[in-house]
Amino acid sequence: MMTEIDYPPDAIELGRLLFARPFLFVKGCVKIADLPEPDRVEIAFAGRSNVGKSSLINALCGTTSLARTSNTPGRTQELNIFESQSEPLRIVDMPGYGFAKAPEDKVRAWTKLIHQYLTGRAILRRVYVLVDGRHGPKDNDLTVMNELDKAAVSYQIVLTKADKLLPKDLDKIIAATRAVIAKRTAAHPHLIITSSHKGDGLSNLRTEIAMLLQS
Ligand code: GTP
Ligand code: MG
Repeated sequence: MMTEIDYPPDAIELGRLLFARPFLFVKGCVKIADLPEPDRVEIAFAGRSNVGKSSLINALCGTTSLARTSNTPGRTQELNIFESQSEPLRIVDMPGYGFAKAPEDKVRAWTKLIHQYLTGRAILRRVYVLVDGRHGPKDNDLTVMNELDKAAVSYQIVLTKADKLLPKDLDKIIAATRAVIAKRTAAHPHLIITSSHKGDGLSNLRTEIAMLLQS
């Protein structure tokens, strides 16, 4: 079932080159007014706390230390901005939604920020909505997808932690997730399956992002 997507070789190479450049941490934003000037394309990584957003950004960029990761849900608490000197792309690592080990008022504040950002940022070209490969989309993922559909913000679903499942179990989650995507107006039709630890799917995701910049 884990069918490979046939990307054109030149798009794959563009994706590789894009992430061969160093991306650097620019700033963390706790409110919309802190965001940088809208002078380039933005992509954001959203998902439940602990789904692997920061790990995936590191893996895409070929590093372990760009975005801070942790076993404890609620590690990322700000909109963390990463940019490259040479590429017109900004990457936004978002705090997670759902359960987090952090003070209640803090979680409430960042949850509000997430929703404001996802539906109100004009230069936000695509949201990568990360979904835990062990569970498939949960209610709060569906709520975010509803919001993105309603705001007509393009998004693409990425399954994470594929290394934690047996192939037959992963296949079931893939089928269920594809069924969810098929009904949604702003969802990209390709489902990306990743393991930040093993490197699965990173080339596909880099290629998708490179193609997005070309479009
Ligand atoms: P918050 O910032 O708290 O919302 O979490 P996050 O979504 O940024 O998750 P993070 O990248 O911090 O990863 C959470 C935990 O999942 C860490 O212990 C990671 O090592 C682990 N993890 C992330 N990606 C993978 C993966 O591909 N495979 C496995 N096995 N573990 C992963
Ligand atoms: Mg994080």
